[in-house]
Amino acid sequence: MKIRTLKDIPELDSKRVLLRVDFNVPMNKEGQIQDNARILGALPTIKFLQEKKAKIILISHMGRPKGQPSDHLKLNPVAAELESLIAKPVKKLDTILDSAKEIDGMQPGEIILLENIRFDDGEESCDPEFTKKLASLGEIFVNDAFGTAHRKHASTAGLAEHLPAYAGLLMEKEITELNAVLHGNPPKPLTMIFGGAKIDTKIGIIKNFLDKADYFLIGGGLANTFLHAAGHNVADSLYQADKTGVAQEIINHINNPESLVIPHDVIVSDQISNDAPTQNVSSHQVPADMKILDIGQQTTAKFQEIVAKSGTVIWNGPLGLSEFAPFANGTLKVAKTLAESHATSIIGGGDTAEAIKRFQIPEDKFTHISTGGGACLEFLSGETLPGIECLVDHTL
Ligand code: 3PG
Repeated sequence: MKIRTLKDIPELDSKRVLLRVDFNVPMNKEGQIQDNARILGALPTIKFLQEKKAKIILISHMGRPKGQPSDHLKLNPVAAELESLIAKPVKKLDTILDSAKEIDGMQPGEIILLENIRFDDGEESCDPEFTKKLASLGEIFVNDAFGTAHRKHASTAGLAEHLPAYAGLLMEKEITELNAVLHGNPPKPLTMIFGGAKIDTKIGIIKNFLDKADYFLIGGGLANTFLHAAGHNVADSLYQADKTGVAQEIINHINNPESLVIPHDVIVSDQISNDAPTQNVSSHQVPADMKILDIGQQTTAKFQEIVAKSGTVIWNGPLGLSEFAPFANGTLKVAKTLAESHATSIIGGGDTAEAIKRFQIPEDKFTHISTGGGACLEFLSGETLPGIECLVDHTL
C-alpha cells in the first residue's frame, strides 16, 4: 500500500490547502487544554506547508456536538494554543462553509482555522452537498488527522472525491510506525498490554495478534471481564457481563497460562477518590461491596518482568483508574519499566498517553506514542480506515 504524501504535491506556492487535523484535545471545565499532544503532532505539516508558501485552511472537530453549535466546543482555545506554539498568527473563523471571502483574502503562508466542523451535521453524514461546498474552499486536501481516520466523514474522507488528496507528516509517521509492528518483523518477544474500561474496542486487535504475540497482559476494567469469565467473583467491580463469552473464547484460544496474564492479585476499595483506603487481595478473594481498581503488587511485578524481557511492547489502556493516586501504581510502574527498557514500544493514544504525560515520563523514552485512540486500535486490528484508504495511490 503506497499512500500519496506531501512530497508528491507538485506545487504548493499560493495554493489553498484544506488541512484536516485532529485537534480534539481534552479540555477541563474552564475550557483549558489538558494535553496539547495532538496540536504539537500537527506542527511539522503546518510548518512544511508554510515554508512552501501554501495558504493553510485548518479543519478540525472537537467533541461530539452532533450538528449543534455550542460555545464550549468552539475551537478558539485550540487556535490560541496553536498560535503560541507556532509563534505565527492563526485566524480563527466562526464559520465553516461561509468562509470563502476570508479565504480569498489570504496571503501565502497564512493560517485560518475554521469553526468546529461537527457543528454542521453534513460532516458526520458525509453529505455530498456539504462535502462539495467544503471542497470548493480549497485546491488540495491534506489529511493529517490520524486520530479521526477511522471515521468516514466529509473532511476525513469525502474531500478526496473532489480534490487531490495527500497524507500529512503526522499521518505518514503514524502509518509507518504502526505498520512496522503490524506487518514487519518486530523484535520478539512481542508483548501486548491491554487495559482501560471496555473489552469491545480491544477485541479486534487482540484477535489480530493472537498468533503473533508472545504475551498478553490484561489489566484495567477489561481484566474484570476476563476474571469473571475465568470464574472469579469480581464483587462490585465494573465488568461487561455480555462479553464474558468473548473473553472465554480468547482464554481458550491462547490456551497457554504463560502467555495470557490476567491479574493474580488486585487493589480493591469501596471508594474512588485520591485518599481512598485500599487493600491488596487475591483475585480469588475480592471482598463483597469492593471494586477492583488496579492490578495488585504481584501482578505488577509479573508485568514488569515480562516487559523487561520483551523486544516489542504494544500498550493500550491504563491498568487501573490511574487518574486517582491510590490506583495509579500498576500503570506507573509498568510505564517506568517500559521507558527504561530497550523494547520497541508503541503506546496507543487517548488514556494511556495521557497517563504517561501525567507521570511526567519523557515521551522520547517510547518508540511511538500514537495520537489515535480508536483509530490506533482499528489500524492494529487490521481494518481499513476510510481516512487512509482515500490517500492510497492506486496507480502503483
Ligand atoms: C478521538 O478522540 O478518538 C478522535 O478525535 C475521534 O473522535 P470521535 O470518537 O468523536 O469520532
